[in-house]
Amino acid sequence: MMNRLAPRVVLAFLVLAVALAAYAVPFDTVKAASGRVTFQRYCASCHGAGAKGDGRLASIIKVPVADLTTLAERNQGEFPSDRVRQFIDGRKDVVAHGLREMPVWGDALQHPDQPGDQEKIAQDKIDQLVEYLKSLQTK
Ligand code: HEC
Repeated sequence: MMNRLAPRVVLAFLVLAVALAAYAVPFDTVKAASGRVTFQRYCASCHGAGAKGDGRLASIIKVPVADLTTLAERNQGEFPSDRVRQFIDGRKDVVAHGLREMPVWGDALQHPDQPGDQEKIAQDKIDQLVEYLKSLQTK
């Protein structure tokens, strides 16, 4: 009995392992869905619809446009949330490092036509983008 069941148990573990690997970077699905909309509107032109760094503007930018599906892979399997958030915002980054090719989004994602705390509106949008990028990680 044990011997006949063993392969099934092994198979079940394999399926579970693959399922877990597919979601190695946990993310908030609701935020990610909103982030996807923002991404397609503001980011896909350079980064590509699938965030692989192959948008239609990529060929005319002097530096390679980053592949955003390998952020975790390039950081020992851990999604670098804070660094990504800060890079998208960009305002501190420009002060610290000077030149960069990517536009600054911290101001651009505010909606002065809408009521409310503009800083919070932009931070929420960046938060959603980060969740969306988490959902795209290959590892
Ligand atoms: C005008 C083209 C352009 C647009 C639009 C753009 N990016 Fe970028 N992005 C780049 C380039 C080029 C880089 C590589 C770093 C650099 O030179 O600034 C980059 C790098 C990044 C990085 C860092 C990647 C890493 O490897 O650390 C993140 C995260 C990122 N972009 C997210 C976004 C998001 C989110 C948006 C939309 C809100 C966006 N980008 C819009 C061109 C763009």
